[in-house]
Amino acid sequence: MEKQEIRTFGRRHGKKLSGRQQRLIDDVLPKLRPLKNNISEHVILEIGFGSGEHLRNLAENAPNKTIIGAEPFMNGVASLLSAITDINTDSVLPNYQNIRIYADDVRQFLRDTDSKFEQIWVLHPDPWPKARHEKRRLLQTDFIQLLYNHLTPGGEIIIGTDHWEYYDWITQEIEKAKLSYTSPDIDTIKTRYQEKNKAGTQHPKYLIIKN
Ligand SMILES: C[S@@+](CC[C@H](N)C(=O)[O-])C[C@H]1O[C@@H](n2cnc3c(N)ncnc32)[C@H](O)[C@@H]1O
Repeated sequence: MEKQEIRTFGRRHGKKLSGRQQRLIDDVLPKLRPLKNNISEHVILEIGFGSGEHLRNLAENAPNKTIIGAEPFMNGVASLLSAITDINTDSVLPNYQNIRIYADDVRQFLRDTDSKFEQIWVLHPDPWPKARHEKRRLLQTDFIQLLYNHLTPGGEIIIGTDHWEYYDWITQEIEKAKLSYTSPDIDTIKTRYQEKNKAGTQHPKYLIIKN
C-alpha cells in the first residue's frame, strides 16, 4: 500500500489464531502466493473474500482456472487455509489446488501485476456507512477503472452488496468512470457477511461491468 493511501479495511488481526491456523499461515500461505504475472489464461480474482466461502465455491466449480483471493484480514485468510487443507497433513486438498492467496491490500497487488482476469468478484465490500468514513470505500472511480483495466476481453466485474445506499453510490462511481453496468439478479452462495445482513435489507443487489 502506498504511504498516503487511505485504508479500505478495518482490522488485519482479530482473535488469536489456533496453533494449526498459525502453522498454516507460516508454512502453507507462502506457497500459495500468486505469481506476479499469471501464465494461465483463465484467472478469476475475488477481492475481500472474508472467510472464503465463495472463493472455495469458485475453485470447486472451475478446476481448470486459477482462483486468486485477496484479503488482508489474517483471521479470514486462516479460516480459508483451514478449510482447504487436510487436517492431518496440512496439504492442500485436491478440490482447492487452483487457489492462490494474496494476503494484503488488493490495490497493491493490482498495481504490481499485468495479469488479466476473466472475472473479478467483489462481494459485500465494507460499506463504511458513516459519512466521515466514505473516503474508505473501496469501490471509488479510480479503483473501478483499475479493475476494468485488468479484465480480459469479454471479462466482467461482479459486485454484490446488501447495503443499498452503497449500491447507489457505487453506480455513481461507475458512471464517473464512464463505464456501463447491468443490475441482474444473481444466485450465488451466501457469504458469512451476507448471513449477518447488517444493513437489514431484503436481499443483496448486484452490478456487472463487462469489458
Ligand atoms: C464486509 S467484509 C465481506 C467479506 C466477504 N466478501 C463476505 O461477503 O463475507 C469485506 C472484506 O473486504 C476486505 N477488504 C477491504 N479492503 C480491501 C482491500 N483493499 N483489499 C482486499 N480486501 C479488502 C476486508 O478485509 C473484509 O474482509
